[in-house]
Amino acid sequence: MAGDGDVNTPESGTGSSAADWARFLGNWVRHPIKMGAVAPSSRSYCKMMVRHATTELDGPILELGPGLGVVTRTLLENGVAPERITAIEYDREFARMVRQRFPRVNVIQGDGFDLDRTLGARRGEKFAAILFAIPIANLTRAERQALFRDYFSRLLPGGNVTQLSYLLKPPVEAVPGVFSVSASPRVWRNIPPARVWIYSQDRAAQTGAAES
Ligand SMILES: C[S@@+](CC[C@H](N)C(=O)[O-])C[C@H]1O[C@@H](n2cnc3c(N)ncnc32)[C@H](O)[C@@H]1O
Repeated sequence: MAGDGDVNTPESGTGSSAADWARFLGNWVRHPIKMGAVAPSSRSYCKMMVRHATTELDGPILELGPGLGVVTRTLLENGVAPERITAIEYDREFARMVRQRFPRVNVIQGDGFDLDRTLGARRGEKFAAILFAIPIANLTRAERQALFRDYFSRLLPGGNVTQLSYLLKPPVEAVPGVFSVSASPRVWRNIPPARVWIYSQDRAAQTGAAES
């Protein structure tokens, strides 16, 4: 049975089957920058991600870069209604598989860096939480901050952005007046060990979000 001690290997019974592991690795070989990881996140890691996301707020949840849906599954296991989740995945085959696995989740095959285009008619929607797992290694410091400013403009008051990362320093630096950043403990039971970076609205931004 899967437990907190699971590492993201195909043998661990985490829900990431050997077939999923092979799919993930195959995609990583073809598109290492877009994938950013060789394997789906471990169960321990997914729990850490979901624990820090502000899913307790009323409102829709946005997941960016769901891969094969391991974090999506953990959200559902934690009682998040599938209809609340919009998951945006760039890879066509991964998007198809997540849709097949979680038919009541709104899965969009598209670009999580261009939400106006990807969300279409729903572009004005405000989210309770954004769970972010898209690699951003090829973005400059300024581009990362601009991207997160955009994400913060799409949050409900009190909502946060949580990010998967293997880095020791925050991948996105705080933008004073908009968001600050903190880290979860490192999850060693993940290949490679990772942490969740938690980006929280500054007070002024929360007031602004409430007013808009
Ligand atoms: C590091 S994997 C994370 C997968 C999953 N969340 C997990 O924790 O196992 C990154 C995922 O982001 C997807 N991705 C890359 N660029 C993207 C983009 N611009 N928009 C949406 N998804 C993207 C990749 O296809 C891949 O599935």
